[in-house]
Amino acid sequence: MAEGHPLRAVFFDARDTLGSVDRPGHLVPYRPTTEQLLESVKALGVKIGVITNLPDNVSSEQGRKMVREAVLSEEPATGKVRTIGDYIPAAHIITNHDAGVDKPDPRIYKKAAELLGVHVKEALFCGENLPECLGAEAAGMRAQRKPFPPGGEFLSALITKLPSTKTNSGRAFEALFEHEHVLADRIFLCGHKIADALKALDATKPLPANLRIAMGLFVYLINNFADQVHLRAEEAVIPIAVARGMDPRLAQWAINDHEQVRAYWGSLNVAWKRILTGDDDDRAWAYGDFWRTIEAQVTLLDHHAVRENDELFPLLGGFFSDQDDTMLMGILMQIGWSNVGPFVTMVGAMENALAAPPAAARLAIKNAPKTKSAKTRGNARARAAR
Ligand SMILES: [Fe+2]
Ligand SMILES: [Fe+2]
Repeated sequence: MAEGHPLRAVFFDARDTLGSVDRPGHLVPYRPTTEQLLESVKALGVKIGVITNLPDNVSSEQGRKMVREAVLSEEPATGKVRTIGDYIPAAHIITNHDAGVDKPDPRIYKKAAELLGVHVKEALFCGENLPECLGAEAAGMRAQRKPFPPGGEFLSALITKLPSTKTNSGRAFEALFEHEHVLADRIFLCGHKIADALKALDATKPLPANLRIAMGLFVYLINNFADQVHLRAEEAVIPIAVARGMDPRLAQWAINDHEQVRAYWGSLNVAWKRILTGDDDDRAWAYGDFWRTIEAQVTLLDHHAVRENDELFPLLGGFFSDQDDTMLMGILMQIGWSNVGPFVTMVGAMENALAAPPAAARLAIKNAPKTKSAKTRGNARARAAR
């Protein structure tokens, strides 16, 4: 352990510790906290370095340039900018390409300490990623985990974003929304399946258990994810683009669509309540209202999401600076639920419910003569249960 050794060097991770990487090779520091952090560490009189894992298509030189040129602040009177390079020399930035191994391999931390001329036990690593902190400790270095803004865990998958094109602003907010649209596509597909199953249903029979589960999860996702997380976040971005000079009429169609779909969702909730609590006579009519409402909303949103991806988001993104985009990400992560992981799990559960064969088919499978492989599987399960 490193206790009892003087602290002579502090290494930071770059992405999600000092700032956001909004596109490959471009770091936007958190404001004002990263500058304050570097200033405080500098005041301790220790050496400051960076240990960073770069993707294969970003060279060590590009990585060092990305870190050093990241703008911490601008002086309004003189226009002079302060960058991370004012605190961290290029020679103190070690990459996975330099070390020949990625974090959390302990060798990269040892090599970093060597580079700064300190013993590994005299150094501390600070990063947002737990395995990387554990890697530092395994190397004998001290480690301090620095939490990043709420919901940042969700962002780590978005880093391979492409540069801006006609249909993509390359901004982090657009990547986030389009990531959510992928999840929405899966929800819509389930909506189509639910509508088809309800159309084919004999309304005099009880609702099949799997279909009922899928319908309940669909309604839950609509009420707790679609509006609270996604629509509200999109509506929070538009006024910032308007503040930056966008004509608000250019985004009005999206707000109107949201209003329309919220009306459908109100209708869906009424139909669901009638299915759950209504009498036998009304239930058949409620099934009809349920699937018609689903089809109406899914048809509208299928088209809406494509138009947002290709038209609205690139338009909004064109009005934002890097700082606007990073500031917006800080806001968006706090709208609705900061972690959408449970909703991803729920969509999977809905897909499973819809993929399961209906009760009649299950019975036929149960009564079918057993094949060798079915027997083997049965025996294996029996063994596992013992
Ligand atoms: Fe939308
Ligand atoms: Fe959307």
